[in-house]
Amino acid sequence: MPEAQTIRRIGILTGGGDCPGLNAVIRAVTKAALNDHKWEVFGIEDGLLGLIVGRVRQLQSPDVSNILTRGGTILGTSNKANPARFAIAMDDNNNPIFEDVTDRVIENYRAFKLDAVVLVGGDGTMTAAASLMDRGFRAVGVPKTIDNDLACCELTFGFLTAVSTATDAIDRIHTTAASHHRIMLVETMGRNAGWLTLYAGMAGGADVILIPEIPFDVQKIAHECRERMHRGRSSTIIVVAEGARPTSGEQTIKQIVKDSHDAVRLGGVAERLADQLAELTNLETRSVILGHTQRGGSPVAADRVVATQFGHAATDLLAAGKFNRVVVMQNNRITDVGIHEVAGKQRLVPHDHPLIRAARSTGVTFGD
Ligand code: F6P
Repeated sequence: MPEAQTIRRIGILTGGGDCPGLNAVIRAVTKAALNDHKWEVFGIEDGLLGLIVGRVRQLQSPDVSNILTRGGTILGTSNKANPARFAIAMDDNNNPIFEDVTDRVIENYRAFKLDAVVLVGGDGTMTAAASLMDRGFRAVGVPKTIDNDLACCELTFGFLTAVSTATDAIDRIHTTAASHHRIMLVETMGRNAGWLTLYAGMAGGADVILIPEIPFDVQKIAHECRERMHRGRSSTIIVVAEGARPTSGEQTIKQIVKDSHDAVRLGGVAERLADQLAELTNLETRSVILGHTQRGGSPVAADRVVATQFGHAATDLLAAGKFNRVVVMQNNRITDVGIHEVAGKQRLVPHDHPLIRAARSTGVTFGD
C-alpha cells in the first residue's frame, strides 16, 4: 500500500443527486487538508464527469468560506457520469450510445497529479468508484443521500434535513385536511427505501404510512379511511413513499432517464392512489408531491455537524494511508468500511424495525 506521505494533492467531487450538507463536507475536507496536512485541494466539477472531461479547479480557503449553511454543491454534480457506462452520444432513435471511458478518468487523475480523491456520493458514485480502484485510483468515500439507504451506514447527512422539510410540509397539510374533511396524500422521495417516509410520517403525525418495503392493499387503506370517519375523525393524512407499491402491482414510474446510471425515476403513486381512494370511499381526496423540495435548502444543524465530521474523517483516512474506504456511521460512531462493502447495496427498512413497531402501536396503518 502506498505511504500516506505520498499525498500532496487531493481531489474532491460530489456525485449523484444533490443534498443538504454537501458544501459542509467540501468545506471540512478542504480546510482540514489545507490547515492540518498542507495538501493542495482540487475541486472536480460535476461529479465524475469532471474527471471524464477534465474539469478541475484548485480550492483555497476563501473558496469554501460561507458555504457551511448553503444547500446544493458549489462543485456541481451529475448522476449520469458512470465511467464504465458513459453516454457519449445519442443514436437515431434517441437512445444513448454507451462507452467505457474509465481510461479517460485514470488519465485525468494522473494528469492532474492527484494522489487520492474524496468522493462524496451515494450508491451510484460508490459503485462507479469501485470499478476504478483496480486501476490504481485511490479514493475515500463520504456517503450522502436524503434516502439514507447506503449499506453499512445508519445515517447519511442530508437525511435529517429532508425529514425536517417533509415534516414541515405534512404539518401544513393537516390544516387543509381537517378544514375540508379530506383524505390528503403526501408523496415523499426515497427511491426503494422507506426511511424518509417513515421518519417524516411519524414526525408529521400521519395516519397511514406507505413504504416500499411493505406493499399496501388499497382496500385496507380505504377501509381505514372510512373507519376513521365513522369514529369522528374528519380527515386522514397518508404519507406515501414514491417507491411504495400495491401488493398486486408495481412501483409507479414517472420517467426513464436513459443515460443515467439508475435510469428509473419514481413518482406519481400518490395521485394514482388518491383516485382509487376517492372512488372507494366517496371522500374528497387530494395529493401533493413534495419532490425536490426535500433535497433543497440549508442543512439542519445535525446535518452540518455530521457532514463536517464525515469530511474530517475522510482526511484522517487519507492521512493514515487508508484508501478505498467509505466513512460511515455505525452505532452512533464514525468508522469506515471498504467501498466494495457499500457499492451496489441498499439499506432498506426491516419489517420489524423498532420505528415500525412504535408507529403501529400509536395507531399508524401501513396498508398491509
Ligand atoms: O436519491 C435521491 C433522490 O432524490 C431519490 O429520493 C429520488 O428518487 C431521486 O433522487 C430523484 O432523482 P432526480 O433528481 O434525478 O429526479
